[in-house]
Amino acid sequence: LLPESESLLALAVATAREAGELVRSGRATAGDDVAVKSSPVDVVTAVDTACEHLVVGRLLGARPDDGVLGEEGAERAGTSGVRWVVDPIDGTVNFLYDLPAYAVSIAAEVDGVAAVGVVLNAATGELFTAVAGGGAFLSTPTAPDPVRLTGGRATSLEHSLVATGFGYRVERRRAQGAVVAGLLPRVRDIRRHGSAALELCAAAAGRVDAYYEAGLEPWDHAAGALVAAEAGLVVAGLPGRPVGDPLVVAAAPEIAEDLLALLAELHPA
Ligand code: IPD
Repeated sequence: LLPESESLLALAVATAREAGELVRSGRATAGDDVAVKSSPVDVVTAVDTACEHLVVGRLLGARPDDGVLGEEGAERAGTSGVRWVVDPIDGTVNFLYDLPAYAVSIAAEVDGVAAVGVVLNAATGELFTAVAGGGAFLSTPTAPDPVRLTGGRATSLEHSLVATGFGYRVERRRAQGAVVAGLLPRVRDIRRHGSAALELCAAAAGRVDAYYEAGLEPWDHAAGALVAAEAGLVVAGLPGRPVGDPLVVAAAPEIAEDLLALLAELHPA
């Protein structure tokens, strides 16, 4: 455990909770101010932008020398060796439709290595946290004492529930559809919840046995991947490639090798 981990975690949790309130209070009017980003189906609401502003303001207000990278444009190098990676609303389409799976995701990296991950489902209040070397935990509004997460129970790929997600660009979606077509007959079933951060946390909690997605950005997976790794999951990319280039995979150790081999076969290079 890094000495500053606990204070980084406390700041991330307090900030995520405040941001979660902002997101929840903006739900009713979420559709009023929507713009598109990388493609016509990649949307951003005024709440995403306001939430990123709040999160970055709180983090840098407390720690002015830190760096930051945010989905909605925040970017700053910093001098302290700590960088915050922020997705103000991961699952923006769910947010727009009032599907209760959208999250504030905040990670802290120390010297380029993930040290703290916090994912708050703003709709349900479920809070996932992890500190590198310190385990992953879930607390909920009705069970606020943190419970340690240890992943799922699958022992074979054919009995595994696998979550995935899709990017916003048409070409990537075509390729992702082809991977799903190859995978679906080989597993128990497939889920797509619409928030990479929450899907990584779902794998950590054993609600699915694995999650994979190609083309994620750092803010989508930085916090959730640490939660998954600290719950004992294998977090990897394609063989010989770094996590996120292009694939992020989180899987129970018992099935990771088989899933990675199958994805390596199905995935376009
Ligand atoms: C998206 C969600 C979605 C995933 C996409 C992401 P956003 O993030 O995590 O589940 O499939 O690849 O871009 O746009 O809601 O922050």
